[in-house]
Amino acid sequence: MGSLKKEGEMEQIGDEFMEAILYVNGVRRVLPDGLAHMTLLEYLRDLGLTGTKLGCGEGGCGACTVMVSSYDRTSNKCVHYAVNACLAPLYSVEGMHVISIEGVGHRKHGLHPLQESLASSHGSQCGFCTPGFVMSMYALLRSNKNSPSEEEIEESLAGNLCRCTGYRPIIDAFRVFAKTDDALYSGLSSLSLQDGSSICPSTGKPCSCGDGIFQPISYSETDGAKYAEKELIFPPELLLRELASLKLRGDGGLIWYRPLRLQHLLRLKAKHPDAKLVVGNTEVGIEMRMKRLQYQVLIYVGQVPELNTVNVNDIGVEIGSALTLSELLRLFRNVVKERPAHETSACKAFIEQLKWFAGTQIRNVASVGGNICTASPISDLNPLWMASRAEFKIINCNGDVRSVPARDFFSGYREVDMESNEILLSVFLPWTRPLEYVKEFKQAHRRDDDIAIVNGGMRVFLEERGEELFVSDASVAFGGVAAVTLRARKTEEFLIGKSWSKSLLQDALKVIQSDVIIDEDAPGGMVEFRKSLVLSFFFKFFLWVSHRIRDVKPALETFPPSYMSAVKSFSRPCRAGRQDYETVMQGTAVGLPAVHLSARMQVTGEAEYTDDTPVPPNTLHAALVLSKMPHARIISIDDSESKSSPGFAGLFLAKDVPADNKIGPVVADEELFATDVVTCVGQVIGVVVADTHENAKAAAGKVEVEYEELPAILSIREAIAAKSFHPNTEKMLRKGDVELCFQSGQCDRMIEGEVQMGSQEHFYMEPHGSLVWTTDGGNEVHMISSTQDPHKHQQYVSHVLGLPMPKVVCKTKRIGGGFGGKETRSAFIAAAASVPSYLLNRPVKLILDRDVDMMISGHRHSFVGKYKVGFTNDGKVLAYDLEIYNNGGNSLDLSQAVLEIAMFNSDNVYEIPHVRIRGNVCFTNYPSNTAFRGFGGPQGMLIIENWIQRIAAELDRSPEEIREMNFQMEGSITHYSQCIQHCTLHQLWKELKLSCNFLKARREVDEFNSHNRWKKRGVAMVPTKFGVSFTKTFMNQAGALVHVYTDGTVLVTHGGVEMGQGLHTKVAQVAASAFNIPLSSVFVSETSTDKVPNASPTAASMSSDMYGAAVLNACEQIKARMEPLASKLSCNSFAELANACYFQRIDLSAHGFYIVPDVGFDWISGKGNPFRYYTYGAAFAEVEIDTLTGDFHTRTVDIKLDLGYSLNPAIDIGQIEGAFVQGLGWVALEEVKWGDAAHRWIKPGNLLTCGPGNYKIPSINDIPFNFNVSLLKGNPNSKGIHSSKAVGEPPFFLASSVFFAIKDAIKAARAEMGLGSEWFSLDTPATPERIRMACFDEFTCPFVSSDFFPKLSV
Ligand SMILES: Cc1cc2nc3c(=O)[nH]c(=O)nc-3n(C[C@H](O)[C@H](O)[C@H](O)COP(=O)(O)OP(=O)(O)OC[C@H]3O[C@@H](n4cnc5c(N)ncnc54)[C@H](O)[C@@H]3O)c2cc1C
Ligand code: FES
Ligand code: FES
Repeated sequence: MGSLKKEGEMEQIGDEFMEAILYVNGVRRVLPDGLAHMTLLEYLRDLGLTGTKLGCGEGGCGACTVMVSSYDRTSNKCVHYAVNACLAPLYSVEGMHVISIEGVGHRKHGLHPLQESLASSHGSQCGFCTPGFVMSMYALLRSNKNSPSEEEIEESLAGNLCRCTGYRPIIDAFRVFAKTDDALYSGLSSLSLQDGSSICPSTGKPCSCGDGIFQPISYSETDGAKYAEKELIFPPELLLRELASLKLRGDGGLIWYRPLRLQHLLRLKAKHPDAKLVVGNTEVGIEMRMKRLQYQVLIYVGQVPELNTVNVNDIGVEIGSALTLSELLRLFRNVVKERPAHETSACKAFIEQLKWFAGTQIRNVASVGGNICTASPISDLNPLWMASRAEFKIINCNGDVRSVPARDFFSGYREVDMESNEILLSVFLPWTRPLEYVKEFKQAHRRDDDIAIVNGGMRVFLEERGEELFVSDASVAFGGVAAVTLRARKTEEFLIGKSWSKSLLQDALKVIQSDVIIDEDAPGGMVEFRKSLVLSFFFKFFLWVSHRIRDVKPALETFPPSYMSAVKSFSRPCRAGRQDYETVMQGTAVGLPAVHLSARMQVTGEAEYTDDTPVPPNTLHAALVLSKMPHARIISIDDSESKSSPGFAGLFLAKDVPADNKIGPVVADEELFATDVVTCVGQVIGVVVADTHENAKAAAGKVEVEYEELPAILSIREAIAAKSFHPNTEKMLRKGDVELCFQSGQCDRMIEGEVQMGSQEHFYMEPHGSLVWTTDGGNEVHMISSTQDPHKHQQYVSHVLGLPMPKVVCKTKRIGGGFGGKETRSAFIAAAASVPSYLLNRPVKLILDRDVDMMISGHRHSFVGKYKVGFTNDGKVLAYDLEIYNNGGNSLDLSQAVLEIAMFNSDNVYEIPHVRIRGNVCFTNYPSNTAFRGFGGPQGMLIIENWIQRIAAELDRSPEEIREMNFQMEGSITHYSQCIQHCTLHQLWKELKLSCNFLKARREVDEFNSHNRWKKRGVAMVPTKFGVSFTKTFMNQAGALVHVYTDGTVLVTHGGVEMGQGLHTKVAQVAASAFNIPLSSVFVSETSTDKVPNASPTAASMSSDMYGAAVLNACEQIKARMEPLASKLSCNSFAELANACYFQRIDLSAHGFYIVPDVGFDWISGKGNPFRYYTYGAAFAEVEIDTLTGDFHTRTVDIKLDLGYSLNPAIDIGQIEGAFVQGLGWVALEEVKWGDAAHRWIKPGNLLTCGPGNYKIPSINDIPFNFNVSLLKGNPNSKGIHSSKAVGEPPFFLASSVFFAIKDAIKAARAEMGLGSEWFSLDTPATPERIRMACFDEFTCPFVSSDFFPKLSV
């Protein structure tokens, strides 16, 4: 029982105290003392409520979202809100009701309509993010009396990331609950939908377009009761219960206080001057967990009424420091409605800024005071408090109050004008006056839920004097440009007293340059961008104010109308999209757009992942000891401190490995645990096991390694210069004779150049993890792993332990995304865990934290391509010479094969008579890079598409024209001698051009650009051809095991892994059609090495082809055995037949096997057919950029893909959308930053971008406004299972259409500066920094020239 005192004096613990309690999903739970270090997430998962997932632990992914309900005694209402359980301290929810996914709906008791809708709209692929999405939406519905609007729904999901779906189906699933469809949530929906209408996959609204394929939302599918009747109510006990002050303890002597009166709080602060105050814990939590800062006393002030007051009066509004940002937003929205417009200019600026402040879950708990007192130099609100003349009220422990102007409060890096015996009581924001204007600014990598690169707050107060307006007062503040939120004093002083005119603008811009100085090597980098942003923001502010005052002084507005594009703020329409496909049914199930077989388990949180598996008794937790140097000799390893760490159970190093320490998927060039030398930061040196995950991490952190530093190679360029290549990786492909062609004079023109592209983090939502245990006295080793390749886990573990493979079993039920990242890199993690498990004969669980996962497990390869191209004046390409390099990192892993695929795909879809491609894998001192969707193909294709654009620029033609005239044809021979057959490219391209109305789109974009100086639009159409097969011939094999049971149901196991791509669903469809039984009669069990041996990894987009065919083979064998009886008896059902066969002793089980025919390539002769067939596609994109900030959004995307006769078009559409959005991240958002020569402010060889805080994958707000996908009709593929085609990787490259549309828009911006016809390079990812700096103009030219390149880690 915790010591929770009734209202009374703190620190005088009397006899009288109440239980600390919490309700979880309606169940009362007593909170014991001693858990002050624990998060709500840890508590819930320890209770076995594993539906709430740990995706990042830093508030950045939303996988841990739960709903918290509490009783607000001021309004006498229950309030419900979504929070990130990973950051919520357990005791912060004392006396509240927490609803996790398990409390929303369950398969046994009925799914909530939200869950039904998400499942049936195909909104759950791997399912790891799914409970978080459901909870965010659930909290939105419960917190609103009325149904939310579509905008509110999209806004509420900004804090939830999904790496699989591309978000469109999630939006569609939830928009049925928007205002327009009140009936759906109010309980009438089940009636209104029982007329046979269903949820439209494209609009998300009820309709009949699905021909009954999409099941109507049903509240009663399972138990016949209306779901709404079972909604968990707020526990009556909590309505009546008096809140009490709280003092509870945690690990390491931590004390948690919850005072309920300001007096209590001040007394505690007097007693513990170093205590940290906590409200949302979104700063303190990160400091303690990620930065490992230790605090002894935490005082939770969220329930202190004096810090929660709001006082609106005639001169302004006083805001309690503990008010949450969501409450602040609501307050300002009300104020704006109620007060005269001129008084609320600052409030409106705050509203705009808060829209882009974190996600809803963070805003629901993060406080005004927490943001101010953290004094982060990139705080979004502090520049605005400074600009808007806010005053901070500070109270000391004696109760003395003083007031400090916000603009004088911030004194240094995270330092403020506040003593340790003081706290922030409240903030006073004065109303603005007539002719006083406040404006917010923020530019981040990603618009939603991202910290700023630069932000700002600006204010002017103008005074009318005759025909002119003079600046009577001004404030200009910037974040992200110094160690502190910077007040631009010189600029302010300069502005005051000046007439508001264009010349003021020009002069002020010069003054700002001397006010805001950013050093060349300033932390955060992007120096030129940040400086340009500062000027651009001021320019925008000037135009915005000029526009505002047009009613007062129309004559002063002298800018051309096209300049208004600088002040038009971003607004997003609700997403729309069309999914167009034909359904070609083959048998009972093949061709059906069936819902993912696990979807209903995933939406309820019942689906289990590795970390959710109940652990056996006696389980130990493991943490890795990692190298801190990019290249160094290990001098010594000291484990003395680690050994005395709490819960320590052992440290295992190379010397402890029972058999072979050398590992590697292709060549054994890695060590499981480093022996003498480490070759990257993050290389594994050893593994520590302890009783808990936290203790294992702490103990691993205490292992002291002494190094002797060695020189490191930290980029492809350094590797090329030092000839640092992995041994024997040089490869060449050739066709014709490039040299001869270049010299022959046939080429009218020749171009030479380089294309470089950054890498990409997989960011599967479920981090790497394995649970390993021994059985039969340590004679066998079993494991459950999150992997795409259980066979490799089995191999590695048997190899390092010296066990024969039959004694090692690896099982995988499902994984929360893989995308190639779990093809090989997961195996060493399992092997590391297996060593202590085997030696101690105890179960060991090793789940990587997100930052460790990102740091050590490799990325998509960065590439550099050096090209020379010869072409005619008509645009016909004659010769292409390419040197191509990928960054392999410190071991070979799959880098050779990735390079080869890049080389094969280097022609994309183009016919080039003379080609020579030479490639090399660079050895660098980074963690080994690895497979990632597309496997090098997108990188190879991006190089050619880059120079196709360059040819277009040279010839002043459109890139689309150049593309078309160079297309391969039926019968074309590639540079690796494969003949192009069944080429659907021309048909696809023609259809897409028509459906997107390309010429009209081009005209409209040109028209828009001519009227908008500071916003530009661009369009592009890009084709793709993706060869399907493993290029290592031996890997093109697949096995399956099929059992038919006497009740007519079928159990399928096969070698492929379900990672969200719907493989099990498609394979089940194949089995169902084979036996002519319903899909519901087939069950696909886990992937296990003791069921199907020697399986290839689930990769290369080949799995449905291979495992579908292997399953079909097994089914055919069983059918052949059943056939004699089937033709003799006339059975009424398959069950009857199966039963009859059983009694006739017919074997109803079969092992199926399949090899992909006619594939193979010989690198010596450079000839062969590496691919079974090609998947073709094309995409159109239209984007809009803000040339002043680099902000961009995708307005429209139309995709067309040839998937033959799709096995399951709904799943395939999901793969296309998901791949496209992931590709969009690669080309435009996701930047991996390493400590290299380009980023000297990062420690050498260290990864900066190792969490969702720093690394931005697309969020719901980044998907195209109009997102249309259609599948080519009427084109069966004779080489694929049931005439289908592979889908996983091919659409990924189509996202480059967004990149080239961005480039098109930048070209229009550069044309305004007379640079329109000049070719310019743009690296990927085209982040706001690259976009903005390429839009060369008067605000960038003080810092850079027109050919400037922002730095990139390659
Ligand atoms: C995922 C994520 C996204 C984020 N996005 C943004 C963003 O977009 N923009 C941005 O600006 N910030 C962002 N932040 C930072 C953070 O959310 C904010 O700074 C937040 O407002 C902090 O409030 P809190 O209540 O959670 O602070 P806490 O962590 O509870 O406290 C923070 C600090 O403030 C002190 N403190 C709190 N109240 C008082 C008081 N009354 N008097 C004296 N000291 C006090 C505490 O002692 C502590 O040192 C983000 C954080 C996360 C985790
Ligand atoms: S796990 Fe909590 S937000 Fe990612
Ligand atoms: S379904 Fe969203 S991350 Fe996999």
